[in-house]
Amino acid sequence: MQDNILEIKNLSKYFGGLAAVSNCSLKIKQGTVTGIIGPNGSGKTTLFNLIAGNLKSSAGSVLFNNENITDVPSYELFSKGLLRTFQIAHEFTNLSVLENLMMVPGNQSGEKLMNALLKPRLVAKEESQIKEKAIEVVDFLNLSHLKNELAGNLSGGQKKLLELGRTMMVDAKLVLLDEVGAGVNRTLLKDLGTAIEKLNKEKGYTFCMIEHDMDFIGRLCDPVIVMAEGSVLFEGSVKDAKKDERVIESYLGRGSKLKDN
Ligand SMILES: Nc1ncnc2c1ncn2[C@@H]1O[C@H](COP(=O)(O)OP(=O)(O)OP(=O)(O)O)[C@@H](O)[C@H]1O
Ligand SMILES: [Mg+2]
Repeated sequence: MQDNILEIKNLSKYFGGLAAVSNCSLKIKQGTVTGIIGPNGSGKTTLFNLIAGNLKSSAGSVLFNNENITDVPSYELFSKGLLRTFQIAHEFTNLSVLENLMMVPGNQSGEKLMNALLKPRLVAKEESQIKEKAIEVVDFLNLSHLKNELAGNLSGGQKKLLELGRTMMVDAKLVLLDEVGAGVNRTLLKDLGTAIEKLNKEKGYTFCMIEHDMDFIGRLCDPVIVMAEGSVLFEGSVKDAKKDERVIESYLGRGSKLKDN
């Protein structure tokens, strides 16, 4: 049996009187690409914010590889290999693509002033290793031709690729993707999908991805989790989700049943 890389138990988040995430429980199996779908406002991003330490929970717990990580801040999770991307890409617009990637590994000794003063060669060596890694990442993502371009000049889709690239600068184990495919054109979406598949198969990343594009979800994800009103409405294959009465009712809409069969 596959191990659970993530287990969420009775997790809740209240904003005033509103339960954005409500008594939510789910498990993500190691090695999967798990999709999360659901109507706007059903709590998907809030769930990611709680898992990734960007928000404090109101109740419940989160286990990562059986370790309790509830309310552990994002920078600590980052070093454990739990990373996320944001629904709105947040690149450094005035840095190049390569420089954006080189910003990611947080604990390089170049950040420590003492090292910079006393061990300049160590710092230079680490920087060149990080640069090499960044070049590997842009190659992997087919962004080599843009490596010296300012990130602010990239298209929306290319920024999404860069977001994915950031997760490749460290040894990620679980990556949470928040609508990484949204606003990305068909060709680039295909590249993005291929990159996700490759990272999953070749580097052993487990992915959990929020998406609204059912074709994209269908191509990449098994299983899919459907959220509604802050908790899990359905979990299973994409095929079964499309046939499920409650899923159709709350998310896919009546027309979808005929269209997808
Ligand atoms: N910081 C916040 N303060 C107050 N309410 C919030 C906050 N963040 C989210 N909410 C509310 O919580 C609910 C869930 O929002 P969330 O962003 O998690 O939904 P979502 O499923 O990601 O939606 P979408 O598909 O539109 O991205 C919404 O009603 C939203 O308005
Ligand atoms: Mg969202």
